[in-house]
Amino acid sequence: MSKRIALVSGGIGGLGSRICMQLAGSGHTVVALDLAPSESRLNAFTQQVAGFDVHFEAGDVTDFAGCTALVQRLEQRFGSIDVLVNAAGITRDVTLRKMRPEQWADVLRVNLDGVFNLTQNVIAGMIDRGYGRVVNISSINGQTGQFGQTNYCAAKAGMHGFTMALAREVARKGVTVNTVSPGYCETEMVKSIPQPLREQIIESIPVGRIGQPSDIARAVDFLCAEGASFITGVNLPVNGGLFISF
Ligand code: CAA
Repeated sequence: MSKRIALVSGGIGGLGSRICMQLAGSGHTVVALDLAPSESRLNAFTQQVAGFDVHFEAGDVTDFAGCTALVQRLEQRFGSIDVLVNAAGITRDVTLRKMRPEQWADVLRVNLDGVFNLTQNVIAGMIDRGYGRVVNISSINGQTGQFGQTNYCAAKAGMHGFTMALAREVARKGVTVNTVSPGYCETEMVKSIPQPLREQIIESIPVGRIGQPSDIARAVDFLCAEGASFITGVNLPVNGGLFISF
């Protein structure tokens, strides 16, 4: 059988790039979708994924028509998209009383509208072919709330609502839809938290360390496997025990 095709949004980001490598390692042809990066960032990514079947494609998840065109282009070049990982995400941390409408809108547009824009464009094909895996990268903060993140937490909690609803719609079509909720991991996003607060958070993680992007990538890969066909609509927290729940 030919290789399955995986599309990863936020594909050159801290978590996204590791997810791309993990999926390529488990036999997928992977397309890393991200905003057009600087030459140096693209070079760094190219070096990171050297030797893996990972291809970069520039695109903006907030642009629905652009996502439609992108998916058509990718399907012509690589074949049908079997796996979609929605990992594009941004933060604009600020307390609500100081939050400007654009800080709210930017986060909702990338983190939540982006999930609609890409998923809507691949889901019909997955249904028609009777196979698909969709994984949405949410956050521990969507489960617990976080000071200064009303925008981000609203979007991340919303992603799992989307997961649960779509999982029901496509369950009989061989398509699973799940959420992975990372805790604090070693990424640029987490490095941008003010240092004292970041140290305080890391000290409170029960397993005694910050997460690595590979911790998240393994969970995503598990849910994207063909054998994971009986797991749908779930949220898989990967947070070192920072938020333990039933
Ligand atoms: N809990 C309770 N109170 C807090 C607080 C907290 N976490 N942080 C600050 N406060 C209090 C302050 O002590 C201060 O109190 P007073 O008014 O009585 O002095 C008040 O709230 C205002 O605090 P700031 O002056 O710090 O507020 P600010 O608007 O300048 O900054 C902030 C707010 C930008 C949100 C800053 O606190 C911050 O960056 N917080 C980090 C947010 C965070 O954890 N983001 C996670 C990013 S990583 C990620 O999102 C990845 C993932 O999925 C896990």
